[in-house]
Amino acid sequence: MIPLRKNIAEMDGYVPGFQPKDEGAWIKLNTNENPYPPSPRVAEAIRAELGDGEGLRKYPDPPSSAAREEAARLYGFDPAWVIMANGSDELLNNLIRAFAGEGEEIAYVHPSYSYYATLAGIQGARVRTFGLTDKWELADFPELYEGKLFFLTNPNAPLGFTYPLEFIEELAGRVAGMLVVDEAYVDFADENALPLVRKCPNVVVTRTLSKSYSLAGMRLGLAIARPEVIAALDKIRDHYNIDRLAQAAAVASLSDQDYLRGCVEKIRQTRAWFTGELRVLEYGVIPSRGNFVFATPPDRNGKRVYDALFERKILVRYFSDPLLSHGLRITIGTREEMEKTVAALAEIG
Ligand SMILES: Cc1ncc(COP(=O)(O)O)c(C=O)c1O
Repeated sequence: MIPLRKNIAEMDGYVPGFQPKDEGAWIKLNTNENPYPPSPRVAEAIRAELGDGEGLRKYPDPPSSAAREEAARLYGFDPAWVIMANGSDELLNNLIRAFAGEGEEIAYVHPSYSYYATLAGIQGARVRTFGLTDKWELADFPELYEGKLFFLTNPNAPLGFTYPLEFIEELAGRVAGMLVVDEAYVDFADENALPLVRKCPNVVVTRTLSKSYSLAGMRLGLAIARPEVIAALDKIRDHYNIDRLAQAAAVASLSDQDYLRGCVEKIRQTRAWFTGELRVLEYGVIPSRGNFVFATPPDRNGKRVYDALFERKILVRYFSDPLLSHGLRITIGTREEMEKTVAALAEIG
């Protein structure tokens, strides 16, 4: 027996969505990737940074200053309020490392992003979940939640609804520790919680470049919070957390907002069309503000439809969790991919 920490020995690892080897053979709608390529500026910037490869001899800029400054300019904050990360997952992890010690509690909404629980488990922190009412409100949330961190995924994933900003502000006052608003999908929504970062000292907003910026393969995320929170996250991150090519990609993509808006608009239009088509097929669909929808077939048998789509080389996300097993989370791909998906669902019945 190797001398593992007990919590590591006992925990299950997180299981990410399936990444097929023969990617090209599939319509891949299972991990909320963007169907469009990143801004053309990204490949140009990576090529320029790479050159003949000589520059890779040297370590990257530890604080990712250029990317930080670009993000700060974009969101209207001083760079001291911004940190860049190797995917927003790195920030979620470091927030737990910074705020929740062994035996201390963190909480999140169930269903939402269950990776928070895995990360807390690694730290030996305790995990509590709060459920949702049938109006998508938090059930049984106390007047004051005394845990160290509360993670609110907004828009909710995998369900796609959003909480109103006024509610998030009220919630910040009911969380004794930090309120982390995980805005992985917020570029597809109508409002975001950045104004609350200035108003409420305990609010942290996390973002990713994996979804709206089409850079899942690059691993880039960022957080916006008060400078003392950012300084703490800076202390504990891997000092070279973002490589040279990824830093160049971050600056290039954040600087191309016209391109971002174009991609987001196409996805929002396809989302509206696909939602309508699903309803024609008598699916239950939660109006989504993300780049995915959660859809329930008439017989509420998510697994049956998952398997039938899989046979047709269409990959969607099925969760065996009893709160989610009646439906499927389907990423919004191109219009053509979604037309094929609708045709397959109609055939499957
Ligand atoms: C709600 C939520 N938060 C965070 C992440 C992680 O994003 P990243 O690719 O930036 O690590 C995901 C990825 O699917 C997500 O769904």
